[in-house]
Amino acid sequence: MDAAHSLRSQFPVLERNAYLNAGTCGPVPETAHAAALDAWAYATNEGRSGAFYERLVPLAEELRTRYARLLNAAADDVALTAGTSDGCAHIVAALGLREGDEVVTADDEHPGLTGPLIAARQQRGVTVKAVPLAQIPDAISDTTTLVACSHVSWHSGAVAPVAEIVAAAARFDIPVLLDGAQGVGAIPLDVASFGVQFYTGSGQKWLCGPVGTGMLYVSSEWTERLGSPAPSYGGLTDPAAGLASGLVANARRHDTPLRDLSIVAAAVAAFDVLDAFGFQALQERAAGLAAQLADALRERGATVIDRGPTTLVAWDAGSDEAAIAARDRLQAAGVTIRDLPGAGRLRASVGAWNDEDDLDRLLSGLDAAAQA
Ligand SMILES: Cc1ncc(COP(=O)(O)O)c(C=O)c1O
Repeated sequence: MDAAHSLRSQFPVLERNAYLNAGTCGPVPETAHAAALDAWAYATNEGRSGAFYERLVPLAEELRTRYARLLNAAADDVALTAGTSDGCAHIVAALGLREGDEVVTADDEHPGLTGPLIAARQQRGVTVKAVPLAQIPDAISDTTTLVACSHVSWHSGAVAPVAEIVAAAARFDIPVLLDGAQGVGAIPLDVASFGVQFYTGSGQKWLCGPVGTGMLYVSSEWTERLGSPAPSYGGLTDPAAGLASGLVANARRHDTPLRDLSIVAAAVAAFDVLDAFGFQALQERAAGLAAQLADALRERGATVIDRGPTTLVAWDAGSDEAAIAARDRLQAAGVTIRDLPGAGRLRASVGAWNDEDDLDRLLSGLDAAAQA
């Protein structure tokens, strides 16, 4: 069995479904399922006392180390979060933005980022300026306080002009927050060479872990400069000291409270399946299959939305209603993709675990829908 076939065989959902939806949630490998069951068996049979936490806390650190390696960051600069939205909300709150501050963002951001920006606008009088992703560098000015946008657009699969954004932000000495929900695990990334101050990501999408996992990179010069709106146990220097405790001088002060052992164990197990294949190989294979799908859709006359060398392929379905109907018909035929509400688009997420047969099933499902 070749490496790609052996990777694929670890995801039970792929035995039945052409599962092309990792941009929402990745397929779950059997090892992650087994790790979660083991963790629940342990908690159920042994109880959840000190020994439970002696398993959980070091395992959470192992997860942090894995995420940090993928981002090319130090583990001390990576907080464990409940997902990308959690990281975005944390940064927007932690910066203490108020009236007079201006955030530049893209006009097709996910609610995980727009939610915190709407709250900052409504509750604290922050100005939010939204422009197309590609135009962000030109929209940054001396009135801008923060740039917050996607690394990879969830609506198109386009990649943000990160170098230009960082250069424009540096001219005004303001930080950049990248929403990496569709970046982490999906495309090559290196937060150190990007020069961004904050990068948020999800564990349940391209890393195939449980919902409720994710990461937030905070560059070391911002760790303490940034407020810590909700430090938890691991963020305190001396939890036993009560109110006399300080906050640790690393990104653990930005952690969200611990998740269950079953969640952390499954996240580590899922990560290791991908790691064994190799992230570079994983990303090259996924990007290649996604480009193949985009070409095939264009050949069939579909309007594929301008995209980058990523794992997302979005195309025009005519209307939201048509997109939902096509999504549901495909699902009934065992092909899982999603619609993009408000845009009348369909989106396929292509991972290294997919194969050409999955793409053919999607294409023939679309052909059948067009003829119906
Ligand atoms: C660009 C983008 N940002 C944020 C999110 C939300 O991620 P999470 O569910 O990890 O908070 C998603 C996906 O759902 C996304 O595509």
